[in-house]
Amino acid sequence: MARYKEIGLEQFAVGVIGARYVGLATGACLARIGHWVTCVDKDPDLIAELRNGGMPFFEPGLEELVARGKSEGRLSFEDGEALAGVVEDSDAVFIAVGTPQGDDGAPDLSNVAAVARGIGRALAGGRGRENPLVVVNKSTVPVGSGDYVTTLVREGAGDAEVDFRVVSNPEFLREGSAVHDTLFPNRIVVGFDHPEVGEFMRRLYGPIIERSFAQRDEPRGVVPFVATDLASAEMIKYAANAFLAVKISFINEISNLCEITGADVKSVATGIGLDERIGSRFLEAGVGWGGSCFPKDVNALRATARKNGYEPTLLDAAVTTNDHQRELAVTKLERNLHTLEGKRVTLLGLAFKPGTDDLRESPSLWIARVLHARGARVVGYDPVVAAARLSSPDLEVAADPYGALSGAHAAVVVTEWEEVVSLDLRRAAALMSAPRLLVDGRNALDPAAVRASGLTYEGFGHG
Ligand SMILES: NC(=O)c1ccc[n+]([C@@H]2O[C@H](COP(=O)([O-])OP(=O)(O)OC[C@H]3O[C@@H](n4cnc5c(N)ncnc54)[C@H](O)[C@@H]3O)[C@@H](O)[C@H]2O)c1
Repeated sequence: MARYKEIGLEQFAVGVIGARYVGLATGACLARIGHWVTCVDKDPDLIAELRNGGMPFFEPGLEELVARGKSEGRLSFEDGEALAGVVEDSDAVFIAVGTPQGDDGAPDLSNVAAVARGIGRALAGGRGRENPLVVVNKSTVPVGSGDYVTTLVREGAGDAEVDFRVVSNPEFLREGSAVHDTLFPNRIVVGFDHPEVGEFMRRLYGPIIERSFAQRDEPRGVVPFVATDLASAEMIKYAANAFLAVKISFINEISNLCEITGADVKSVATGIGLDERIGSRFLEAGVGWGGSCFPKDVNALRATARKNGYEPTLLDAAVTTNDHQRELAVTKLERNLHTLEGKRVTLLGLAFKPGTDDLRESPSLWIARVLHARGARVVGYDPVVAAARLSSPDLEVAADPYGALSGAHAAVVVTEWEEVVSLDLRRAAALMSAPRLLVDGRNALDPAAVRASGLTYEGFGHG
């Protein structure tokens, strides 16, 4: 605490509403750089666990950072009832609640609306600060929602004159590296329509922008601060996720063409990725994208387009290709096993990517559902998704990979966890039943090593 005072950095009182992947990482990192943070969540069990030193979800490094913030007295946790008090005492309130996909593809904004109205009600009750409250929206919301938040805050305030400014500050963290991405982002995007709040956000993020707290071996240099209008900030978030989703679907389409023509998609990805205009990331072929962001954000952008009379053909195609990749995993199984009826299939990895226990829109759940519906017995293994967390009629969860593989006719690598790619393949082959098929849904294993261990190998886009 003294450190920041000594070097003259400013400290603000900040409320963060929503305390899971985005809210908790934001709150803990803002505390880490010297602010006073209260995280609020409507889930009382989550708050109780955080207060008691527990970590309600898996996110590397976050537990330690939360413990540090608590021990320094900079980070505290409150349930939803505390919103009014937090608004009263804060310079800024971050909205970091979930915006899940609604039935029509557009995001369900009811959580954002509840928080914005609550902030309005609290503002109507008065505030102990002179400056207008800065309402920072971190939830991913459709383009144009900045105005919507303003409207809702006013609605919540009723007839009272209230003083606040809405800022759009989209979040780009990746689950599995949320702490690193929040402390060392590659850019900070802030959309606003009053210059003084842009300046406030620059001061709030000062130590992150300057990387003034970086230790040896940590990134140095100034973080680009993209100051823009509200709508553009909201669009930047969608455009970033849509671009990455399209890039993955692109290499998957090339992968399918490689299978037809006899080319090897891994060589192709290396060959095109070395062109710096293309870049090598997100060029891994396989069962496609999932998770809590890409599917819902791409669908939200498609819904925005259609609502405005525009046909988003490229985004539609990216989704079609992505759906096809999951089906392809099942096709590869059926082709080798002839029928799925009565077969035992192991899913290696359940989370939508390594480093997280998030199962939202994970390809594993879709594949398990289809395999189960076609008569297979499906057993899953994941290093961090415990059986207790996943109650699905479609699959059983085994505690270790070899238990999951025992008696299996086939296995599918769905998540390229280290525990999965470093499996003892000979042991796996000894435990499995003929035809001992391994479908490498992430092209993560060495085909020659898999085959040498006695397994039948099928990758995506190569022999
Ligand atoms: N998870 C990611 O990797 C990621 C990355 C970038 C952006 N985002 C976006 O950030 C937002 C939050 O994502 P997340 O993954 O942390 O969401 P999440 O669904 O995991 O958690 C949201 C939390 O908000 C709480 N909440 C909902 N309504 C509330 C209310 N009225 N008052 C108080 N708390 C409330 C919930 O109880 C929950 O704990 C979403 O819009 C998401 O699209 C997520």
